[in-house]
Amino acid sequence: MAQWTSAVGAAQLARLLNSQQERPAGPGTRRPPAYRALADGVRLLVLEGRVPVAARLPAERELALALSVSRTTVAAAYEALRAEGFLESRRGAGSWTAVPAGNPLPARGLEPLPPEALGSLIDLGCAALPAPEPWLTRAVQGALEELPPYARTHGDYPAGVPALRQTLAERYTARGIPTMPEQIMVTTGAMGAIDAICHLFGGRGERIAVESPLYANVLQLMREAGARLVPVAMAEGFAGWDMDRWRQVLREAAPRLAYVVADFHNPTGALVGEDQRRQLVDAARSAGTVVIVDETMSELHLDEGLELPRPVCAFDPAGSTVVTVGSASKAFWAGMRIGWVRAAPEVIRSLVAARAYADLGTPVLEQLAVNWLLSTGGWEQAVEMRRDQARENRDALVAALRRELPGWEFDVPNGGLTLWVRTGGLSGSRLAEVGERVGVRVPSGPRFGVDGAFEGYVRLPFTVSGAVADEAVARLAAAARLVETGAHGGTDTPRTFVA
Ligand SMILES: Cc1ncc(COP(=O)(O)O)c(C=O)c1O
Repeated sequence: MAQWTSAVGAAQLARLLNSQQERPAGPGTRRPPAYRALADGVRLLVLEGRVPVAARLPAERELALALSVSRTTVAAAYEALRAEGFLESRRGAGSWTAVPAGNPLPARGLEPLPPEALGSLIDLGCAALPAPEPWLTRAVQGALEELPPYARTHGDYPAGVPALRQTLAERYTARGIPTMPEQIMVTTGAMGAIDAICHLFGGRGERIAVESPLYANVLQLMREAGARLVPVAMAEGFAGWDMDRWRQVLREAAPRLAYVVADFHNPTGALVGEDQRRQLVDAARSAGTVVIVDETMSELHLDEGLELPRPVCAFDPAGSTVVTVGSASKAFWAGMRIGWVRAAPEVIRSLVAARAYADLGTPVLEQLAVNWLLSTGGWEQAVEMRRDQARENRDALVAALRRELPGWEFDVPNGGLTLWVRTGGLSGSRLAEVGERVGVRVPSGPRFGVDGAFEGYVRLPFTVSGAVADEAVARLAAAARLVETGAHGGTDTPRTFVA
């Protein structure tokens, strides 16, 4: 549950309601009465994560004024929302948004399926590609040659092997952010890095402001760590951050931590512009919030001529407000389990000290392999292969979706590994459930929402191409037909999420 949200003011709610796209009424359908349209609008804002759960709504009179409707209309809309479980009210205290009990929310992360468990299932659950060979083999061979001097030590490097720390520091310096090896810690994947940072700064009960939607497994990691999550809706159409909202949350909730993905956000693929990056750092510095910037996807820019903004840490090179997380998982191969943190030396020292009672360190051989790649130029060639593959997969997926499911909406991102798809009013949870039965595994939208938002979405990764992409989408279309007609014999959860 989100445990802090600010009130949504009347003007703000009116603006959000007015920004909703009007859904075309079907032939012969009558316009719903005003109170119903208002209730549906609020419900959609909650389900799409644009108004968080547990947000206090304006008093009836204020909203009536802001929307230029009668107070009776607002009262009837609130009454309908209460009856449907989307609003809770206490006499004299006000009304708060809610999601109905029994909403089919998978409050879990994404568990990778072992390849041998897949059978004929097409797995679109995981946004990760196979190793770009021959680079994995070459890197491991290169690492073996470097190994003997390390083999003569005890092998514990809680901050990482010095050679890799040095190489990573030089890469930041080459990107225009002067960095010393003391500012780098090598971790076991980006997840290891985020886990360590959350434990250092965000003890149980600490607030963490997060983009909404956000990567499901980071969301789950933070839940497990006992954080109080404050979701911050992305801008309209998932085009970057809503800076007014971020400023408000940082000022009023003063969270200890914030977590963002500025480069090819997972799941939406958004690339946040440089102005917003600077503004977020300024606002976080004023609020005393440490921002975790996850750059896991940053090298996966897929289109020619794309202008790349400077990294967020360029606006806090000292690394005391911005703690950057990197990873070899998406740019190279997730099986490496190599990630890293860039931060101020004192932050790194604290993270390293805490590691003695966490995982102690990251395997030396894999660190040497990544270092071999980065220092021989193999990395650039491997990443180039990776980009070509992701681009081809993206284009195949997009073409198949447009052909088979023309009512599903999405923006084609310029990078990253995921497409965030609005499923034409069908329940994403239902699609996931039925999809698995017809041979395609997809994660439903609510996995990426803090509180049951995004029921009308699924996330599709760029992991298959050609005939497999066509078959995956054909199976999704079959699942959609079953959900639409109610012929799937599933549970009695609602199959559509909007009236
Ligand atoms: C934004 C983001 N962060 C972190 C991860 C996990 O990274 P790693 O494999 O390095 O732990 C992923 C994987 O999908 C991701 O998309």
